[in-house]
Amino acid sequence: MVALRARTVEISGIRRMFEAAPPNAVNLGLGEPDFDPPPEVIEAIAGAVRNGMNHYGPSAGLAALRDKVAERYADRDPKTNRENVIVTGSGSEGLMAVAMTLYNPSDEVLVPNPGFVLYGPHARLMGATPVPYALDEHRGFLPDLDAVERLVSRRTRAIVVNSPSNPTGGVFPSKLVDDLCRLAERHDLTIVSDEVYDEIVYDRPFASFWGRTDRVVIVNSFSKNLAMTGWHIGYLVAPRPLALELNKMHYHIMACPPTPAQIGALAGLTESGRTVRAMREEFRARRDLIVRRLRRIPGVEVVSPGGAFYVFPRFRWGTTASELALALLRRGVITTPGDAFGSLGADHLRLSFATSRAQLEKGLGILADYAREAVRA
Ligand SMILES: Cc1ncc(COP(=O)(O)O)c(C=O)c1O
Repeated sequence: MVALRARTVEISGIRRMFEAAPPNAVNLGLGEPDFDPPPEVIEAIAGAVRNGMNHYGPSAGLAALRDKVAERYADRDPKTNRENVIVTGSGSEGLMAVAMTLYNPSDEVLVPNPGFVLYGPHARLMGATPVPYALDEHRGFLPDLDAVERLVSRRTRAIVVNSPSNPTGGVFPSKLVDDLCRLAERHDLTIVSDEVYDEIVYDRPFASFWGRTDRVVIVNSFSKNLAMTGWHIGYLVAPRPLALELNKMHYHIMACPPTPAQIGALAGLTESGRTVRAMREEFRARRDLIVRRLRRIPGVEVVSPGGAFYVFPRFRWGTTASELALALLRRGVITTPGDAFGSLGADHLRLSFATSRAQLEKGLGILADYAREAVRA
């Protein structure tokens, strides 16, 4: 029989949706960029593989990559250096290492609702209790900090934040980031800031939690920013004492991150940013298209996402998210039911715009046709 902890979690609802999809369906369910990594990344990985870099490396990652990541954060805190950086086998592994390092059984962990699918289960796997805090749709899916503070108890250990957000696309303004740091300091909490979409913002500059408090660990990844999901490489940035502890857990999860992927990530951080800028501009055009089209459909309310590549519309059609997602799936559009991200997603779908404009137009056409039937019924 499996351990009790295995029964506290399930495979994410997102994966289940894909498995039920008909062939040739329009896929608005994708959680990854539909772009190739920058050519520099591809060349660097190919070169690494050809030149014998197919072996274990240091547990915390290659020194050159840790230096380069530290440089990226030095404008937020000039003291940032290699010792603050642990290279992980993806953001997902980073989140697990953080949970293992920080959460004790019977701790409470504040997690966003709606929020990314790993935060709650990771807390439960450690024997801790996830306590959802609301992202308020009327505030552009931002949290009300007074409401968050009311959820803090003597057992609260950490708060997980995610800006830009999956699934809402919400982006925290700089003042909110500062206010949250003060809240964490008042209550002795650690902020776990998942910043994997930090390069994908449209309307305002990205505000990182790094450099504003020492009660923070940054989770980041090359998956989205460099479109290298298949290489599954990421990193953590933390104050030195915490970084040492994180590295221990990371070592016990995977010993060391894969070497060729690190060489690729390093090349990606070194390149001019041209490819990433082009990807962002294409996402922005698609964001504008999808928001415009959704706003024309009766009974749909949509907050324009300021970042990431998701929109999280509310449907006032009297169906649950799962019923709606299933009805659309039968008509040939894959979406993700909002309740996969928490109770506040019950009337929502997550639509990803990580697909071509032609596919988006087609998918939105099917959605609009379905809306006409749903409104008539
Ligand atoms: C908010 C968020 N965090 C972390 C991840 C994990 O990304 P990866 O494990 O590919 O680095 C994802 C992936 O969808 C995500 O959306």
